[in-house]
Amino acid sequence: MANLDDLKQAVHAARVIPVLVLDDVSAAQPLAQALVAGGLNVIEVTFRTANALDVIREMLKVEGAIVGSGTVRTLEHMRMSEEAGCSFMVSPGAPAKLLEEAENISIPLLPGVASPSEAMGAAEMGYSFLKFFPAEAMGGTPVLKSFASPFPDLSFCPTGGIDAGKAAQYLALPNVLCVGGSWVTPKALVADRDFAKIEKLAHEANRIGT
Ligand code: 3PG
Repeated sequence: MANLDDLKQAVHAARVIPVLVLDDVSAAQPLAQALVAGGLNVIEVTFRTANALDVIREMLKVEGAIVGSGTVRTLEHMRMSEEAGCSFMVSPGAPAKLLEEAENISIPLLPGVASPSEAMGAAEMGYSFLKFFPAEAMGGTPVLKSFASPFPDLSFCPTGGIDAGKAAQYLALPNVLCVGGSWVTPKALVADRDFAKIEKLAHEANRIGT
């Protein structure tokens, strides 16, 4: 999925994007299967563990999973994402250098912004779909409500500090396409390999705002 419009359609349908920090490669496939079975087929795997790339490769084998990379901070991260076959990349920030380098990568980047100036910088470079990060720490839904009028052309995926209750409030905003978060995949459940419980949490997340 090299196309940003396809990505926007997929995330809008999924509504909730699980953000994973996973090092255990053996958990990758069953975890992705549980999320997809629960209706959350768009999955972000952060480059925050030594085995993240192998986790991504394993998840890409799961039918129906649309896998992207997260915590993308460098050109190397973007090249690895592209080579692995990711459908998208997510960055916590939007430095101009990264956005320029992303122009030579064939998969879409979702850059992170936390302020009007950052949103304007990314928009100037052609980015109309942005991660709002860290959403709760930066002021949460009132900030995105305030962005709506000056930035009618921009839509957001807030992440950072969001749980099921807050997700509903974000998803009610017209400029929010989806929310990201780790609440669907609690570390303890992954460690216990309780994928049935994770599938249940995914189902619940998938029903938010419907
Ligand atoms: C992240 O990049 O860590 C995401 O924003 C997830 O944040 P959360 O763990 O607070 O949901």
